[in-house]
Amino acid sequence: MSDRNLCDETSLSQDLTSLDAVFSPRSVAVVGASRRRNSIGFSLIHNLLINEFAGTVFPINPHGGAIHSLKAYPSLTAVPDPVDLAVIAVPSSVIEGVVEEAIAKGVRGLVVITAGFAEVGDEGARLEERICQRVRDAGLRMIGPNCMGVINADRSVRLNATFAPTPATAGSVGFVSQSGALGVAILNVAEELGIGFTQFVSIGNKADVSGNDLLEYWENDEATRVIAMYLESFGNPRHFTEIAKRVGRKKPILIVKSGRTTEGARAASSHTGALAGADVTVSAFLEQCGVVRANSIADLFDIARALDRCPLPRGRRVAILTNAGGPAIMATDACVNLGLEIATLSEATRAELASFLPPEASFGNPIDMIASADAAGYGRALTVLLADAQVDMVMVINVKPLVGDPRDVMEAVNESVRAANAGAGAGKPVLAVIMATEEFYAEVQRRTDQPPVYRFPEPAARALAMLSRYATWRRRPADESPIEFEVPDDEVRDILAAPASGYLDPCAAFRVLELYGVPVVPCRMVTEPEAALAAATELGYPVVLKAHAPDLVHKSDSGGVVVGIGNEAELRQEIAAMRQRLTAAGHPPSGYLVQEQIRAAGHEVIFGISTDPRFGPLLMFGLGGKYVEVLRDVRFAVTPLTAAEAKDVIRRIRGVALLDGVRGEPPADVELLVEVLLRLAQLAQRHPRIRELDINPFLAAPRGGRAVALDVRIRVEPSADDSA
Ligand code: COA
Repeated sequence: MSDRNLCDETSLSQDLTSLDAVFSPRSVAVVGASRRRNSIGFSLIHNLLINEFAGTVFPINPHGGAIHSLKAYPSLTAVPDPVDLAVIAVPSSVIEGVVEEAIAKGVRGLVVITAGFAEVGDEGARLEERICQRVRDAGLRMIGPNCMGVINADRSVRLNATFAPTPATAGSVGFVSQSGALGVAILNVAEELGIGFTQFVSIGNKADVSGNDLLEYWENDEATRVIAMYLESFGNPRHFTEIAKRVGRKKPILIVKSGRTTEGARAASSHTGALAGADVTVSAFLEQCGVVRANSIADLFDIARALDRCPLPRGRRVAILTNAGGPAIMATDACVNLGLEIATLSEATRAELASFLPPEASFGNPIDMIASADAAGYGRALTVLLADAQVDMVMVINVKPLVGDPRDVMEAVNESVRAANAGAGAGKPVLAVIMATEEFYAEVQRRTDQPPVYRFPEPAARALAMLSRYATWRRRPADESPIEFEVPDDEVRDILAAPASGYLDPCAAFRVLELYGVPVVPCRMVTEPEAALAAATELGYPVVLKAHAPDLVHKSDSGGVVVGIGNEAELRQEIAAMRQRLTAAGHPPSGYLVQEQIRAAGHEVIFGISTDPRFGPLLMFGLGGKYVEVLRDVRFAVTPLTAAEAKDVIRRIRGVALLDGVRGEPPADVELLVEVLLRLAQLAQRHPRIRELDINPFLAAPRGGRAVALDVRIRVEPSADDSA
């Protein structure tokens, strides 16, 4: 940051970016500075002074006098020197006057601590809009309102313009928090874990400066190696996507996004719209942007420490080095559950480990050096593991030995990591799990020149999994754009426009898929039994009979599906029985769908589309048929969707092994599934009238087999597109 430091008189120039006035001012005025201890106006001055701000501080208070030994000025206008940044903590009723004064004074940045704006209602929102407009018209930048302030921990600036009791130490994390109160907790946890910041920003209502602006600010800032965000909402998701995908290529972005619980409240239903909560949309969206989503602040810092201090792994294979069996089993479980692989060590590695470890040790993976392992043994074994081409990363576990000191183990680990990283290549991530005393953690956590230390295997496994996931995303080609399929969109538009809203009739829904190049089962829609007989003759027996009734959702459950109808007499009989059943159940059929019965082998999968009000179309893929109701093994993606992203969605369902073929079954044609997902992504994007689409089941057949959509429902609603 120092090259953009306004405190440095030699760097004064007009080409400084506007946010530098906020982060690296030469002078700060606190408007609303107060002598009252424990008031916000007092704490702001106090923090600026005790953190030894490198510039000048001007307290502004209508009564003048002295505040914290500094001369207080009655107004900004009364300050004889230039003021770069004004931190405002006056009641909202007088804020407009203060903003005008700041503009007149030539202030270039504002941090508005004051609350009482958009968060309290319409009047506050209007006030916020007015000050934001004024600030923008005058070319200033504003953080807040309703925020806790900003910190620039750069040692040449040392700006702490917050009222938080805990200071921030200098480091490499750029942090933005949408919650001020949580900001205080974040600073406390960071202090405990020895995490340092470049800048820490509480953005409050983000009237002017948004999270996106800060991402761009940190994009090319070499000192910021990891960007961390606590967000409650996305201002503009599309804009965020663009920026995050670009910035994420240079440095990792970590987010704790609150609001996960909506997912838990979802109804046990098998439809995309019901399976897709607001939260899964956010997760899918963040994953596609390459953003690492943390579950909590503690989780965020556990991952951030690893991202900050470790090189990215080349693959998913992890070696576990331990002096105790139990924690290694826990580590193995956690790694496997998170999608990591337990590395198969090379013969050479095993032989070398056997040459110096006791015969009771186990040389598979985990490598259990047993309780007698000393620091030298750790160092030597780690060096051997890091040299194995079949190992991408290592978790070192040490349960405090009866004799010896875990500090020595850490020293040996450091030595080994330093030596390995000094060699050719980018090095491999090593995380340490040390089960020791509180004093040990207090001392070791503050050291940033060594692998991060965790208390238990699970958070370390999660950090490794996130490193690996982020590394995989980074390896994807950056410039991949969605494939465009040639399709008769006008014809599709006409079909979708036929009903004002509601479900398309099944034939129309199948026709939409067909036009979009999605293979469908041959079928005919009829209303009369005689027509059904003619359709079945045309399609060839055996056939499947499905009832159509506008409000009939779970057709099979209500007896609305009969398979394996072998001849005319059976079909006649089934139609009569079905009509009777459904009428009695309150769903008299308005028609019947006669389908060819597909006898090909394959697995039932589900494809779906739903719409999120903020993020737009959301796609779903998973195991279909009865599995979706029981296992809910589905994954989501937002549009636009690239081929790599589509493949990722399909490959990351839990049951992907089924698609790959188990017990000698041939694998499903996954490439075709990827293509169907991409075609549906285009359909969803180009036809916003589609509110919900479910293809369930789609028969995922082996390559060359008959992969087809067996059932589809499409619900349409008027959209902005209708008037176009
Ligand atoms: N210029 C300079 N100083 C002014 C002023 C002006 N135009 N108008 C008032 N002041 C001074 C007051 O005299 C007072 O100083 P004093 O203690 O020496 O008298 C000081 O500013 C504060 O004003 P006061 O009226 O006492 O307000 P307050 O301290 O009760 O509250 C805020 C001020 C900004 C803290 C309050 O309005 C607020 O918004 N609180 C919530 C903040 C918050 O939660 N932010 C989000 C955090 S995440």
